[in-house]
Amino acid sequence: MVAKVSVVGAAGYTGSELFRLLVTHRGVNIVGAYGSKSAGKCISEIHPNLLGISDMRIEEPNYDKIGKEADIVFMATPHGLAMKSTPGVLKGGAKVIDLSADYRFDKLEIFEKYYGKHVSPGLKSVYGLPELYREKIKRADLVANPGCYPTAAILSLAPLIKSKLIDLNHIIVDAKSGTSGAGATPSEITHHPLAGANFLAYSATTHRHGPEIDQELSKLAGKEIKASFTPHLLPIIRGILSTAHVFLKKKMKKEEILDIYKKFYRKEPFVRIREVLPQINFVVGSNYCDVGVEIDADNNRAVLVATIDNLIKGAAGQAIQNMNIMLGLDEAEGLRDPGMRP
Ligand SMILES: NC(=O)c1ccc[n+]([C@@H]2O[C@H](COP(=O)([O-])OP(=O)(O)OC[C@H]3O[C@@H](n4cnc5c(N)ncnc54)[C@H](OP(=O)(O)O)[C@@H]3O)[C@@H](O)[C@H]2O)c1
Repeated sequence: MVAKVSVVGAAGYTGSELFRLLVTHRGVNIVGAYGSKSAGKCISEIHPNLLGISDMRIEEPNYDKIGKEADIVFMATPHGLAMKSTPGVLKGGAKVIDLSADYRFDKLEIFEKYYGKHVSPGLKSVYGLPELYREKIKRADLVANPGCYPTAAILSLAPLIKSKLIDLNHIIVDAKSGTSGAGATPSEITHHPLAGANFLAYSATTHRHGPEIDQELSKLAGKEIKASFTPHLLPIIRGILSTAHVFLKKKMKKEEILDIYKKFYRKEPFVRIREVLPQINFVVGSNYCDVGVEIDADNNRAVLVATIDNLIKGAAGQAIQNMNIMLGLDEAEGLRDPGMRP
């Protein structure tokens, strides 16, 4: 059976990636593309790489209709939109994968502190990180696809947090992203003449992905964790490199830590543990998260580096991985591209 899928926010950067990956997916047909300002335009007018591949027209969303026409609906829209439309889509019978933050938080007060008022807080969602929640994702009607920085940070830290080998009070996540992380709408900070030969920290102590990282690390640890998270903007288009600094409770060798990581992720199709520290161009264009470690013996510090493509494992690829799990398909279907290098 071929499943029917629709993309709301088809004109954006994650919408573009969803289309690019879904058009060659063997288990689904795209039945709807939706947008706001782009409504009325052909998908290939907005995304010229899709000329001759998809001539679907983008429409204004009617969520009652969208919920009835599709098996899975991707919400690739800014925060605040899915919370309004998801109840109607679910009522129509479709399942929802939301790429925004609307359903990522367990605690309403944390969501509202960082994103504002929620209008459908009662809906049950599963945090869509397959490496931690695969069984729940299989049964979910609503999956909250993780943020891009949290995907890299959580995957780099999960095995050591679970193993109880580190000081949980001192975790530092220093992460860098390419400019496509900010979406398709131009802004001063991502405008090429200013971003193209620049490098800066932003929202250094207040970024919205901080509480999301804390939520998931706390669940892994079984106690409240507050990591110190600071993001930076790299003068590249795609990719995230996250460097986590943690302090070991006892002396450990790099090989011992690598063994813990290899065991933890031994069945994972999209996490690769490396002997050398990963670089962004090891993963760009792919759904992989690569993780490596170095030990600073003098300070008992482990440095955990993870890289992802923010638009793929950090967004559209992970959403398709979740869709594959929800539909009972091969988890890697549509996601086998090893990426590009150089
Ligand atoms: N970029 C990333 O690396 C990344 C990674 C992880 C998660 N995310 C999250 O994924 C979501 C999408 O991000 P993005 O980077 O793709 O953003 P984007 O490039 O700004 O695209 C967002 C799209 O949403 C559409 N939209 C806005 N209001 C709408 C409405 N009322 N009805 C229907 N469509 C509407 C817009 O369509 P029109 O152009 O037609 O107005 C736009 O194309 C965001 O929540 C973001 O935080 C992004």
